[in-house]
Amino acid sequence: MEAHMRFMTATFLLVLLSLSAAAPSVRGQAVAAAPAPAAAAPKTIKAVLTKAGQFTKFLQLLQSTQEEEQIDTQLKGKASTGAGLTVFAPPDNAFTALKSGTLNSLSDQQKTSLVQFHVVSQLLPMAQFDTVSNPLRTQAGDTGRGKYPLNVTSDGGGRVNISTGVVNASVDGTLYTGDRLVVYQVDKVLLPWALYGPPVPAPVPLPAADKDKDKKKAGPVAVADAPEADTATASAAAPREMRGLGGGLCMVAVAVAAAWCGM
Ligand SMILES: *[C@@H]1O[C@H](CO)[C@@H](O)[C@H](O)[C@H]1NC(C)=O
Ligand SMILES: *[C@@H]1O[C@H](CO)[C@@H](O)[C@H](O)[C@H]1NC(C)=O
Ligand SMILES: *[C@@H]1O[C@H](CO)[C@@H](O)[C@H](O)[C@H]1NC(C)=O
Repeated sequence: MEAHMRFMTATFLLVLLSLSAAAPSVRGQAVAAAPAPAAAAPKTIKAVLTKAGQFTKFLQLLQSTQEEEQIDTQLKGKASTGAGLTVFAPPDNAFTALKSGTLNSLSDQQKTSLVQFHVVSQLLPMAQFDTVSNPLRTQAGDTGRGKYPLNVTSDGGGRVNISTGVVNASVDGTLYTGDRLVVYQVDKVLLPWALYGPPVPAPVPLPAADKDKDKKKAGPVAVADAPEADTATASAAAPREMRGLGGGLCMVAVAVAAAWCGM
């Protein structure tokens, strides 16, 4: 009888033990499983823009220039772009607002540059715009004058303006914030200086003479020359300063000599 009781108690304890051992492991699995899918499947740019809606034109451009693939590859390749990515996405109405022919006049290479101008190889959460140094380097590259400079100004309160020298845009909202990708909605297509440098191509046909003049004034070649001219001026200025310094020393020497003679 006593042995039977002991057997029953032991069995009961064993059942209890196995139950309590099983329960945490089930719970543990549930806890571990929940965050895993989110980490394993980082948002693609397509997923973000599709979900946001009204970004079909920008998405088409991303796809036709193979930038969508590039972005997804960069987001997956943690090692190569540890800094993450920031995308400035203009909605369809920003494209509709462009003067007709604005995009059609671009070559495939220029379309790629235009799209890359909307992507920065850094993760820039809103707060970062307060301290970012201008011009910001986009994936279009060269931030030099007449090339692809992008300036960001923030009032520190979440209002952010973007200037390309051709357009002034503003950040209208955040479409997505992840630890590898931030996507902002901007109110205008960011037209880079290199492709649309001032004066902005006029949509209405100008008299032939004016058109030629404008071309000469605004051509990318003319703008590209400017930094060289600056460099030349700077290097020419250096010897002039040296001469100035030399002249000053001579004057001092003469003054000292004169003082000696006078004595
Ligand atoms: C952004 O631009 C608007 C005008 O377009 C201006 O009123 C505002 O002060 C600017 N904000 C910043 C932070 O530069
Ligand atoms: C961008 O900022 C730089 C440095 O502050 C300035 O030299 C440049 O003129 C600015 N360009 C535009 C387009 O605002
Ligand atoms: C952009 O804004 C600056 C100053 O805020 C102004 O000087 C410039 O004319 C504006 N450019 C365009 C294209 O609106």
